[in-house]
Amino acid sequence: MIIKTFQTPIEAEHYAADLISAQVRAKPNSVMGWATGGTMLGVYKALCGMDLSFKDIRAFNLDEYIGLPPDHPQSYHFYMRQHLFDHIDISPDRCHLPVGIGDTAIEISRYQDLLRTYGPIDLQLLGIGQNGHIGFNEPGADLDGLTRKTALSPITIRANSRYFGTAETVPNEAITMGIGTIMTARKIVLLGCGASKADAVAAMIQQSVTPDCPASVLQRHDDITVVLDKAAAASLSLEKQRA
Ligand code: F6R
Repeated sequence: MIIKTFQTPIEAEHYAADLISAQVRAKPNSVMGWATGGTMLGVYKALCGMDLSFKDIRAFNLDEYIGLPPDHPQSYHFYMRQHLFDHIDISPDRCHLPVGIGDTAIEISRYQDLLRTYGPIDLQLLGIGQNGHIGFNEPGADLDGLTRKTALSPITIRANSRYFGTAETVPNEAITMGIGTIMTARKIVLLGCGASKADAVAAMIQQSVTPDCPASVLQRHDDITVVLDKAAAASLSLEKQRA
């Protein structure tokens, strides 16, 4: 695990964007794994400003809320169009996200089949939840799992209520890529910024691997870069902060 710590979130976001652009330049037909959430906004903004072609890229997102149609402003379909897809030359038919409406069981198997057909992912971008989730694999998740339906934990619902206005309007279920699939990605870049992530980051890196902190399984991946700002790194040992 490579750990890179920066003074500010902007520096961390730019470093993560540079790792992505290096991947796209080295392999223009890479299969990319995208994440959403507040942490990624700066990464996507940086990517949109680069002289970089995504036209041969295929991409998979980690997750989508169950119950939100793709045109819902809080859906991850909408987020990806708003913050990335509408600003780069990626081809819409090569951008895959789980669909949050319709028959969930059919959608899960459709998405897993697509991942099986086009995977493994070359570079998976990840954020981290305050409870150590990756994708929407919440504490207790199967560390070898595939695409599935998941219940969002109260802490995740509370954290994401900032986008919805109230906790009551946050969907309480999602479809998420499983940890088993995430772990097959050739490279992983995890970005964590802000003091609210410090405990989860410390558990991910310094505690033993446990489903209580799903991100801890990333210790077993052999090509992962964890990119942090100073606040997110604050609970790490000094030795790890300097690594
Ligand atoms: C979203 C996702 C989540 C987020 C995490 C952090 O696609 O996979 O794991 O990365 O919840 O979200 P923010 O960045 O909003 O704190």
